[in-house]
Amino acid sequence: MRVLMIAPPGAGKGTQAERISAHFGVPHIATGDLLRDHVARGTDIGVQVGDYLDEGELVPDEIVLEMAKEAVEQAKRDGGGYVLDGIPRTLTQARALYELAVDLDMTAHVALSLQVEESELVRRLLARAAAQQRSDDTEKVIRRRLAVFQEVTRPIIDWYGERGILVSVDAERPIDDVAREILTALEVLRSVVDHVPDAARSPIDLATLHTAFGAEHRDPAPRG
Ligand code: AP5
Repeated sequence: MRVLMIAPPGAGKGTQAERISAHFGVPHIATGDLLRDHVARGTDIGVQVGDYLDEGELVPDEIVLEMAKEAVEQAKRDGGGYVLDGIPRTLTQARALYELAVDLDMTAHVALSLQVEESELVRRLLARAAAQQRSDDTEKVIRRRLAVFQEVTRPIIDWYGERGILVSVDAERPIDDVAREILTALEVLRSVVDHVPDAARSPIDLATLHTAFGAEHRDPAPRG
């Protein structure tokens, strides 16, 4: 199974990616974690990217693309699956990643969009800030990260819809409930992904499905 997680800060990309990784036995590749590791180790890359992370700005495409390339090539050697968490975030990254994946015969089966109201995203990240030390979990930088997502990253979600691999999930529910819905959807998709070309599939909106089954309706427009 090959999954891209495309969602705003605090939506639960890391939390759910770990569940997917454990369930399908595929590597969890998180660009944010890789970058923070470089900063912690004081590598050349870490020195270059530290300020971007602290300010909630996107690191230059070429740096994250090189890291992702190495990780995806390793994932191919390890069996061919992955959960990519935090990349792509720009149209340039989306295109480059797609071309790399085509070359490696490793295109994503699913682009997972986690939908959460902005007020809840801020609440989660401030709650994390109280318990952990992440330099970008201040209210000012959280707001900037959310704005960058809306301006730069959100538009690429449509592209995955057009490719027929988009799955949208209402992620403003308890972690276990969200995980159950994601894993159920991925299990269903796993049985078809190898047999149906991307272009033949339609976008799947599980948030709408959730509403259809009687959950409270929320306007999806401003959500991640
Ligand atoms: P990154 O590390 O990717 O951070 P982010 O996108 O800001 O996302 P977070 O890790 O804060 O949130 P998440 O969605 O993973 O949620 P999580 O599961 O942690 O990127 C950091 C920086 O690196 C970027 O700003 C940029 O500078 C740089 N960068 C990274 N990738 C890049 C790229 N491709 N290009 C350029 N720059 C890049 O959960 C958050 C909290 O909520 C946790 O405390 C969790 O326990 C809680 N939570 C999760 N789910 C739920 C739930 N359902 N209910 C209640 N609480 C929940």
